[in-house]
Amino acid sequence: MKKLIDAITEEVTKVFVANGYDEKYGKVTLSNRPDLCEFQCNGAMAAAKEYKCAPFMIADKIAEGLTGNAMFESVESVKPGFLNLKLAPEYLASYVDEMKQDAGRFGCEKTQNPKTIIVDYGGPNVAKPLHVGHLRSAIIGESVKRIGRFMGHNVIGDVHLGDWGLQMGLIIVELKERKPELVYFDESYTGEYPQEAPFTISELEDIYPTASGKSKEDENFKAAALQATHELQQGRRGYQALLSHILNVSVTDLKRNYSNLNVDFDLWKGESDAQPYVPDMVQMMKDKGFAYMSDGALVVDVAEETDAKEIPPCIILKSDGASLYSTTDLATIVMRMKDYNPDSIIYLADARQSMHFIQVFRCARKTGLVDEHVELKHIGFGTMNGKDGKPFKTRDGGVMRLEYLLDEINEEMLKKITENQKAKENLDISDEEAKETAKVVALAAVKYGDLSNQASKDYVFDIERFTSFEGNTGPYILYTIVRIKSILAKYKDSKGALPEQAAILPAHSESEKNLMLALARFNAMMENAYEELAPHKVCAYIYELANEFNGFYHGTKILSEEDAAVQQSYIGLLMLTKDVLETCIDVLGFSAPDRM
Ligand code: ARG
Repeated sequence: MKKLIDAITEEVTKVFVANGYDEKYGKVTLSNRPDLCEFQCNGAMAAAKEYKCAPFMIADKIAEGLTGNAMFESVESVKPGFLNLKLAPEYLASYVDEMKQDAGRFGCEKTQNPKTIIVDYGGPNVAKPLHVGHLRSAIIGESVKRIGRFMGHNVIGDVHLGDWGLQMGLIIVELKERKPELVYFDESYTGEYPQEAPFTISELEDIYPTASGKSKEDENFKAAALQATHELQQGRRGYQALLSHILNVSVTDLKRNYSNLNVDFDLWKGESDAQPYVPDMVQMMKDKGFAYMSDGALVVDVAEETDAKEIPPCIILKSDGASLYSTTDLATIVMRMKDYNPDSIIYLADARQSMHFIQVFRCARKTGLVDEHVELKHIGFGTMNGKDGKPFKTRDGGVMRLEYLLDEINEEMLKKITENQKAKENLDISDEEAKETAKVVALAAVKYGDLSNQASKDYVFDIERFTSFEGNTGPYILYTIVRIKSILAKYKDSKGALPEQAAILPAHSESEKNLMLALARFNAMMENAYEELAPHKVCAYIYELANEFNGFYHGTKILSEEDAAVQQSYIGLLMLTKDVLETCIDVLGFSAPDRM
């Protein structure tokens, strides 16, 4: 379906052209004075310069040319030369009606040119528990993926596990101290290794921090871990076998954690999967003269003349020949190009990693790992802070584990929901249902709290505010959906069925018209959220839509409306509002309960 704003622009443009003015002046925008009009066109102001006359003379002509046009209720020329537009309720109703018939899409067309897009997000480090630092990547990445899919692109989500660093060597050395008898440490062993891992997830979660602590105090331990990492990377069999055990145990646990967040990945690849591509890639960079030795390391220059700040060379291999974070990311690009030939790769990682991505992207382009039409993009997100404005920590100052954080919010939400139900005397809800509902609402609170901020900005993780049923919060949006569901259920109870085919009639009130105008912006909003990879635009939209709905709801008798056609039109509008809101929260990665 054509976007409403485009349809209006077309109509206005026709009149500009008919009066001899350039078509570019017909552009219509949303009004910045909603008290005066719904849309506006400032083209006459600009045209006045080109055609050397007073702007209001042009505006007057356009207004006259639009008189009688069925799209508008009013077109006003306002000095010095603005055009204030109000839509005809009949036209708006027919637009919204068409949206309603376009089930599932609501007027938003899928792209004509589907792209293959890899979204690299999550980025957890194997054997380390998920902490809040990984939360933003997961939440924003999941939504970016879903927005892309909604627009019709082929989007592949890859978790890109951190499974190739020193942490692996640390685990191996600590495990050897605890269980030296394990066959994995016997270099002369040539048989098959056991299927079962020699540790559980809780052991693993104990092994890593212990080892990491020791390496900071004990030089020998650190040296042993570096050596083990090196041997693992050189392909030592026993260590490779341990790596797959660590991966299996860890990934099982990660999947459980991510599924609690309603986040899932198509690919569970890790840094280690890219290692086979390193030797050829390095050779190519040397052969083509891009890579050279500098202070013992192999580097590629990536600075450009126009750089305002210094961009250091991208290090390809350390002096001992070991891979680094950049090596791994470059080899992963090689692997992805070969496996999926994507048009675009989008990385979700902390904004503090932006220099790393600048170096990697430039190096990949310069050395020809990707050609110029492939887009490489880093969405760098800001820090999640506590109420004190510092990075979010536990009460005793430690790194907050994601699981505990979510538990805390679930509890807070359960408290609120129980209170709310007591107040409404909704006592027929079982403890079981209350708990489930609390989980669903808590997830919305966390995700909306994060996504409603522009990704690049830091934000304060404020449980009290995020879980509130009022204001710009996830629970407020869900509450609105639940309210609609409850009205629809009551209607169905009394009438037997919902009026699926009933026509949407022209608005009977200002608040109903405002609701329709908000609904009609859905397709333009989604396109824009995709173009800017900006879930916060979806949040801003549903907040406004929820407000417009609540305005309509408070000012309108819906269930007691006596005119059946009018009532059916109201109910149809509610159905559409609910569907649009639910489609939006689905691309944000959460859902609504039936009651709360
Ligand atoms: N594992 C990394 C971290 O915890 C994030 C990985 C981001 N993705 C990437 N391709 N570099 O910081």
